[in-house]
Amino acid sequence: MEKGGRRKFLGICLGGCVAGIAAAVLYPVYRYLAPRSGSGATARVEIPEKDVPEGEAKFFEYGGSSAVLVRKRDGSLVALSAVCTHLGCIVQWEKDTQGFLCPCHAGHYTPDGVVTSGPPPKPLTKLPFTVANGSIRIG
Ligand code: FES
Repeated sequence: MEKGGRRKFLGICLGGCVAGIAAAVLYPVYRYLAPRSGSGATARVEIPEKDVPEGEAKFFEYGGSSAVLVRKRDGSLVALSAVCTHLGCIVQWEKDTQGFLCPCHAGHYTPDGVVTSGPPPKPLTKLPFTVANGSIRIG
């Protein structure tokens, strides 16, 4: 193999290694931040009332994506999509501040899903639910 051919071959090998390492690092980050999707999505979800105490939030799968049920400190319930309206990251419940934080760009929402700061352009999507016989039915 001549000198130019060897250099080109090494360049291709190095490029392949860099691409492989980048994929190995970025794919898990993408899977963590991206909303879940799937065809086996459940249209209705039932959660026992006792699983959502006051001031707490319970995350669950709904329609192939992440959703959350919150029991506010006044005892009222809210069901929301947990997908941030900015770029689609999954929000986290902050028990101390009784609000949602999006870890991607520090968007903040109230327990009702209203944006209080950061880049999200609109509130979290509300989900319909009913409560009967100690069970909360979403959808
Ligand atoms: S994706 Fe949530 S603030 Fe950017």
